[in-house]
Parts: sequence; C-alpha cells; structure tokens
Amino acid sequence: MAARRFYDCTVSEKLLYTAFLLLVGVGYLMALGYLYVTHANNDSKPGLSVTDVADSYYGNRSGTRLEAAIRGPMAGYIQEEDRHVMVAWLKDGAPEADYATLIKPILQKTCLACHSTASGRNLPDFTTYQGLHEFAKVDTGMSLTSLLKLSHIHLFGISLLLFAIGFIFIQAEVQVWFKRFLVLSPMVAVFVDIMSWFLTKWDPVYAYTVVIAGAVLGFSMAMQMLISLYQIWFLKRPNAPR
Ligand code: HEC
Repeated sequence: MAARRFYDCTVSEKLLYTAFLLLVGVGYLMALGYLYVTHANNDSKPGLSVTDVADSYYGNRSGTRLEAAIRGPMAGYIQEEDRHVMVAWLKDGAPEADYATLIKPILQKTCLACHSTASGRNLPDFTTYQGLHEFAKVDTGMSLTSLLKLSHIHLFGISLLLFAIGFIFIQAEVQVWFKRFLVLSPMVAVFVDIMSWFLTKWDPVYAYTVVIAGAVLGFSMAMQMLISLYQIWFLKRPNAPR
C-alpha cells in the first residue's frame, strides 16, 4: 500500500489540520513577540542581540549600579581610596555584615546628604543596608529554579507540538531525506537549545548556541507548516492506473 498523502485526507481532516497549523503559526509569532519584549532591553540597547540572550541566563556580571554610579555620575562625591573600599566590598558580594562598619561611614561623608529621606529629595535612600542593597546586587541571570521550570515546560510543550506538526507533515510529498531532516531537526534543536540555556548560565559564549538552535527550530517548524498548508489544499493525486 502506498504511503498516505494529503490527497487521501477527507475534507474534515484537511480542515482540522489547517486550523491547527494556523493557530500554531499565530502562537509562534506571539512567542517571538514575547521573546522580543522580554529580552530586547536586557543590555539596555534596543533590538534583540546575543548579549541580550547572554544577559538573561548568565546575567550582566560586569558590575552593579552602585559601581557604575561611583565610577560615573557620582564619582565627584567620593574619594579615590573610599571608592576602592566600596568596589572591593561589591566584588565581595556586598555582605550586610560590613555595611555599618565599612560602607556607612563612607556614605556619611557626602552621599547621605542627598541619598536619605531626611534630605527631602526623592532619591534612593542609602541610610539602611536594604536601601543600598538594591543597587549593590550583581545580576547573575535566571535562577536555576526558573531555568528548570522553564525547561520542563518547554520540553513537554514543544515536543508535543512538534509531534503533532510532524504527524501532519509526513503526509506531504517531498524528497525523503528532506522529510526526515525536517521531522528530526526541530526535536534536536529544542534539546540543544534548552541544554544551552544551562550552559549559558555557566559561560555566556553559549548564547550563540541558543540563538542558532532557536533559528533551526524556527526554520524546520515553519517549513513543515508551510509545506503542509500548501499541499493539504493543492497537492494533486498522481494519475495512477485504475
Ligand atoms: C548632590 C546630591 C548627590 C550626592 C552628594 C550624591 N548623589 Fe547619587 N544621585 C543623585 C541624583 C540627583 C541621582 C539621580 C540622577 C542620576 O541617576 O544621575 C543619584 C543617583 C544615584 C544612584 C542611582 C544610579 C542608578 O543606577 O539609577 C546611585 C547608586 C548613587 N546616586 C550613588 C551615590 C553615592 C555612592 C554617592 C556618594 C559617593 C552619591 N550618590 C552622592 C544625587 C547625589
């Protein structure tokens, strides 16, 4: 018996496949939109870049807002040696134990004149550790808990989705090697993509693998869907002898 092709489908099957593929297509576009709005501003530059991807998993560890401030706009309010003390404290992970003895005396010299509620200016209040801590946090990216949560949801969800799309697509009429590639590659890509999230948390260079795997996934999924949608309605039955 010849393999089942789209021209063997009843109209009900064709409608079911078409509606499903269109909904998934819209969902995919929304996923891209979501990715864009949640990641594009990670590196505070517009547009999505590999740095944005690295920043969300690895974090931007190059410094804290406090360090940026005392090297930049607030540099004029702090002496050289006090800055060294503060930077060393930040590199140490800004431990609370040292706030009162080491950091507060420095802040008292000039900073608190502006950075306290008493100053009446609506600026971040540094008179307590909690107030300063907000600016002293090193960004280490997504937590392991969020990563695990996100990856199991993605693995279950996307593999089911790919199974359904592939199940429809195998009824298409294309070169057999191409069909096998399109069915298998997005599954591999999802696996590589998600493993790379964890690797990126460890080393930001893997942000490139995240992006490449994501592109392969998108390409293979889109090809399967577009070829299916076209052939469901336009693939002609070959003139077989009766
Ligand atoms: C003369 C008033 C004044 C003094 C003194 C002052 N600041 Fe500020 N600081 C400001 C103002 C105004 C802003 C908000 C505008 C800005 O971000 O440039 C600010 C913002 C900040 C921020 C937030 C930056 C961000 O990422 O949003 C930090 C951190 C900071 N200051 C640290 C300090 C430290 C540390 C000192 C002491 C060495 C200090 N400031 C002294 C006026 C002051």
